[in-house]
Formats: sequence, C-alpha cells, structure tokens
Amino acid sequence: MHDPKHPNPETHAMTRTQTPPTPTTTDSPGPLPLGLSRAARFAHDQPISGLIHIAFNTPGIISLAAGLVDYDSLPLDEVGPLTQAILGSNDAARAALQYGTTEGFDAFRETLFTHLQQLEAQAGGTLPDTCSAKDIVVTTGSQQLLHTLTEVLVDEGDIVIVGWPSYFVYTSALTSFGATVRSVDLDDDGMDPAKLERLLEGIEAVGQLHKVKAVYVVDYHQNPTGITLSAERRPRLLDVVRRFSEQAGHRIVLIEDAAYRELTFDGNAPRSIKSYDTDSRHVALCQTFSKPFAPGLKTGYGLLPEGLTAPVAVSKGGRDFGSSNLCHHVLHRAMVSGVFEKHAEGVRAAYAKKLAATHAALEEHLGDTPGVTWSRANGGMYVWLTLPESIDTSMGGALFNRAVEEGMLYVPGVFCYPTDPTRTPPTNTIRLAVGVPTVEQIHEGIARLARAIAAVTPPLG
Ligand SMILES: Cc1ncc(COP(=O)(O)O)c(C=O)c1O
Repeated sequence: MHDPKHPNPETHAMTRTQTPPTPTTTDSPGPLPLGLSRAARFAHDQPISGLIHIAFNTPGIISLAAGLVDYDSLPLDEVGPLTQAILGSNDAARAALQYGTTEGFDAFRETLFTHLQQLEAQAGGTLPDTCSAKDIVVTTGSQQLLHTLTEVLVDEGDIVIVGWPSYFVYTSALTSFGATVRSVDLDDDGMDPAKLERLLEGIEAVGQLHKVKAVYVVDYHQNPTGITLSAERRPRLLDVVRRFSEQAGHRIVLIEDAAYRELTFDGNAPRSIKSYDTDSRHVALCQTFSKPFAPGLKTGYGLLPEGLTAPVAVSKGGRDFGSSNLCHHVLHRAMVSGVFEKHAEGVRAAYAKKLAATHAALEEHLGDTPGVTWSRANGGMYVWLTLPESIDTSMGGALFNRAVEEGMLYVPGVFCYPTDPTRTPPTNTIRLAVGVPTVEQIHEGIARLARAIAAVTPPLG
C-alpha cells in the first residue's frame, strides 16, 4: 500500500532538529541536481496525496477520507446568474475583469466586515471598536492567509503552538518554514488554556519564549476532530497569549482559523476569540467561502490585528498582487443579494444530515465494540474515532489494509498530529470526513470499517 511517491509523513516528516538534505557531489557524472532552496527541501508532500492515489485507483471504494465538500450542495444555480449579471453589464464586467487591489476591493471588504459583525451579533458579541474594513485582507482561500501570516511572523527556528491533533495541511506548511511546532492537547472543549500556560511556562524556563510567534487554533468544529473551543475558554486562551506576550517582548499572534464557523447546524456558534481582542492587538481571524459556499472560488479573508494588514498585503502582493477579482465580484454580489446566506443555510442542512447519519451508523455498527469512541460535532464535516490502543490505524498497517480490502478509506489519525519534537503521536485514531459520500455511502462505508475493525481485533480471552 505504501506509495514511494507519496511518503508517509510519519517516516518522512522533518523536524527542526534535522537538517534538510543538501545536494551531494559525486565522482560519477550524472545529471546536475536542482539548486533547491532550503524551504523547498524542508517541505514534504501532503500525507493526503497517498490516500487520494488509493481512492482513484481502487474501484468501488467508499472514501470517508477526502476533505472535499459536498458535491450536491455546491451553488450551481447561484454562481451562473451572479456571473452573468456581472458580465452582462459593461461597467461591472470591466471592473471585475481588470486587476483588483491586493487586499480585495473596498466595497467587498466593507461587506465582509459587516458580515463578520453580523456573525458576532448572532453570538451575542461585537467586534473590537478599533477594527474596521481596513483590517480585512482577502486571499486565495484561507490557506493562503495562513501561509502568509506565517511567512510574515515566523523565522526558521521560531516556535508556533498548535492543537494536538491539528489541521495537517497547515502544520506541514509550518515544517517547511523551519518552524518548531509545539502542541497542546485538546479535550471536548478544545485547547485548554491552563495547558497552554504550562507549555509557555516550560518554554520560558528554557529561555525560548522570545521565539514563540503564534498560537494556531481551529476553534469551530475543528479539522480533524470536530471539536469546538468552548465559549468559556475563548477569553482565557487570549488572556494567556496576552500575558506571555509581555514576557516574550513582542505580541504573540493568536491565529483563529474559523474555517467551519458557518457550518454550525443549530446556529449557536460561540463568539469568535477576536471579539475578546478589544484593542485588536493579538487575534488574526481567518474565514473562508470554501466551506459554506464553494471552494472553487478559492476565496478566504482575514480580520487582522493592528499592524499586520500591511505586511500581509505586501507579502501577498509580491506573490500575486491580488486574488481573482472576478471571484470577489461574484461573491460580493452573492453577499449583498442574500444569495450567500440562503445558500449557506442549505449547506448546513446537508452536513447536519450527513453527520447525523455518520453518528447513527457508528452507533449501529460500532456502538457495542469495546474501546471505540467518537466525537459528536454539531457542525462541520468531521468525526474523530478512537480505537483500542492495540489497533494500529496507520497507513499500510493491518487495519488500514483490511479497510481498503473491504472497500473503504479513512485518514489515519497519525497524519493529523504535528511534528512536535517532544511527542510521539498515538496510532489508534481515525479521521472520517463526510463531505463527499452520500448518506447511503456513509452507512455502507462505516459497515465496512466495522468489519475491518472486527477482523483485526484479537479474540477475547
Ligand atoms: C481548518 C482549515 N483551515 C483552512 C483550510 C483552507 O481552506 P481554503 O484555503 O479552501 O479556504 C481548510 C481546508 O480544508 C481547513 O480544513
């Protein structure tokens, strides 16, 4: 099952303690190596690509692995007319087909700011008084924003603190920046501020606090666990970041990745951490249209703390001087016309149905299996499964191979643990994603997984 083109990051991931390979000189003549940069040599392939390879090459397989969104709730009926309305007017078409500005056009940023205020008001909060649309930067997906924030904050050897486990595409990117990743356990309420505090105290005790640049938190229906940071922990987490910033001698930035905020089924999403950042000094709130609307429009945005908008815009400008202006115009129309909000409601309903089906199927097929537990998120698209420690879920292991033979694919949980040089990830967890499969496929996929688990479970006694 191991595909050498897509190495398992467990064996392949580099840590800061390792030096990236340098091109070697040999006596034998051969093709000259590329003079790859240190960053390129630190980078490694995403673990998920090995799984995609299996998904494409195994007929009939049901993938509960892919992080893609639900096909049926993509806005097919909405994007066409919105785009037509732009292209049907010469002025609107010219504005949209011309270059935009690096941060995104002003009216769109105003609309996004109003949208964030509305989300906050629904949750009983407000945005900091000092924030305005000028603090918004629109990016090519929120991934570009996360990457750019890291680029402007983190030098090689700096420390970024993340959840254990965490969103692996971002933590892999951290590795390519040469950052040292440290991690804090999650429980049912998300990252525990007391544990963050203890970690920072430990880092301070060894004289490294000045290297801590950011704390990264996916605080709504987290990828991979589905966990939401509780309302009570939000101000406390920020408080810890504020206090240790004083000692670090610079502002530690709390990167609040709210990618799944608008997929909260019951409408009871808590206030953002940003809403507690009253002087807007610490929190970079990152959101995206990918989950509640369409990832193909590849548009994310951030509400950034004081001083960060300019360096982010300069860095982004050097890369692309602005994301797709046409996509921004389409999304702007979707927002001001109410199309976005109406559509997002439908998307939430679709995921609510799928997650309910997943929980029901797990109950039916694995409810009586000793040592098997799973998360029950009220939003997003992920379920995190913990199996008995004796079962290794890793890629190429007995359970993984058996699951593929049965005809289902999952993400081995080990991929979701960052490369924290002080820790060894557990090997008995699984991430299930319900974006792509239908309700019927979810039921069948979990029945297959349950058969695979039964097959590799040693008999009792
Ligand atoms: C937690 C999280 N953050 C950010 C992203 C990036 O999404 P995009 O770049 O499409 O906005 C993803 C994508 O799956 C994600 O799961």
